[in-house]
Amino acid sequence: MPKLLSLIVFAASWALVSAHTVITYPGWRGDTLHTNGTYSDGGIIPGSLGINHDNGSISFPYGMQWMYPCGGMPTSSNRTKWPIGGGTIAIQPGWFPGHSLAFFYINMGYGNEPLNMSHVMVPVFQIVGPSNYEYPGTFCLPQVPLPANFTPKIGDNATIQVIETAQHGAALYNCVDITFADPSEVAEVNSSNCFNSTTPGQDIGFQLVFTSTSLQSAAYPTLEINGYISFLCPLVLFAATLLWL
Ligand SMILES: *[C@@H]1O[C@H](CO)[C@@H](O)[C@H](O)[C@H]1NC(C)=O
Ligand SMILES: *[C@@H]1O[C@H](CO)[C@@H](O)[C@H](O)[C@H]1NC(C)=O
Ligand SMILES: *[C@@H]1O[C@H](CO)[C@@H](O)[C@H](O)[C@H]1NC(C)=O
Ligand SMILES: *[C@@H]1O[C@H](CO)[C@@H](O)[C@H](O)[C@H]1NC(C)=O
Ligand SMILES: *[C@@H]1O[C@H](CO)[C@@H](O)[C@H](O)[C@H]1NC(C)=O
Ligand SMILES: *[C@@H]1O[C@H](CO)[C@@H](O)[C@H](O)[C@H]1NC(C)=O
Ligand SMILES: *[C@@H]1O[C@H](CO)[C@@H](O)[C@H](O)[C@H]1NC(C)=O
Repeated sequence: MPKLLSLIVFAASWALVSAHTVITYPGWRGDTLHTNGTYSDGGIIPGSLGINHDNGSISFPYGMQWMYPCGGMPTSSNRTKWPIGGGTIAIQPGWFPGHSLAFFYINMGYGNEPLNMSHVMVPVFQIVGPSNYEYPGTFCLPQVPLPANFTPKIGDNATIQVIETAQHGAALYNCVDITFADPSEVAEVNSSNCFNSTTPGQDIGFQLVFTSTSLQSAAYPTLEINGYISFLCPLVLFAATLLWL
């Protein structure tokens, strides 16, 4: 019985440490929880950035959503068309505990294999989720503009990076590779793929952290530290180990 209990506790703690955000529109490079980069469609594109080993090989270890720039996923070969003048981004933010308050950054990297994602698309904003545990809500920004002073041509490629930082400071990275297209060629945006959840328990509030003019001077917002989750995970693992012995 103690062993069964410890297994349950361990399973629960695994659910807690499994990091997850989902870009529901326009898509994503892949599920960083269940895929490693070596497994993406079409294999690894030559030149992809990963963990470079001394022997010259690269790898993208399992489930590394906290790894800059794109959660351990290499550039995908299945790019999504996205409007040339900016467009929709929809996100499920809550598949990670400690995110009842979270900051979001949406950036862009230019070209086929961006070396940085330094081009800001929207000012950092904060969401207030319904709970500090996993929750299924979705939010959607219907018209995300291009970074300032960036005018791509149809057919150019870029990568959109979504970063979510939790109250305990962990940053989750998630990317989608896009090709700029005429709006008429882009997957339709409608109320089934772009909505802010309103179901009780899935509702998400928004707070602007600061205005876009102060973005240039204030590098990082002041974070309110909540130590609860960062204490909880090691504790639960420790308890599981104790019970197993
Ligand atoms: C690209 O392929 C991966 C792996 O099959 C899949 O998980 C992902 O959703 C696809 N992305 C898009 C934008 O279609
Ligand atoms: C290179 O090193 C990594 C890490 O040690 C290892 O996993 C991988 O199999 C090696 N690749 C080759 C081709 O030897
Ligand atoms: C990546 O996934 C493939 C297919 O599931 C698996 O064979 C491989 O061992 C995994 N590599 C790593 C580094 O986890
Ligand atoms: C980021 O990459 C762009 C090109 O995509 C380059 O112009 C810019 O200087 C780079 N910025 C940094 C901080 O490396
Ligand atoms: C954009 O990516 C696609 C598919 O990966 C590629 O065929 C195309 O040549 C790229 N466009 C540019 C301008 O490099
Ligand atoms: C919404 O658009 C998607 C394509 O992006 C389409 O598959 C879906 O059927 C549309 N839903 C409605 C209700 O029109
Ligand atoms: C969702 O809420 C945000 C913040 O209030 C808003 O900017 C956005 O337009 C809303 N999305 C939809 C689809 O109404």
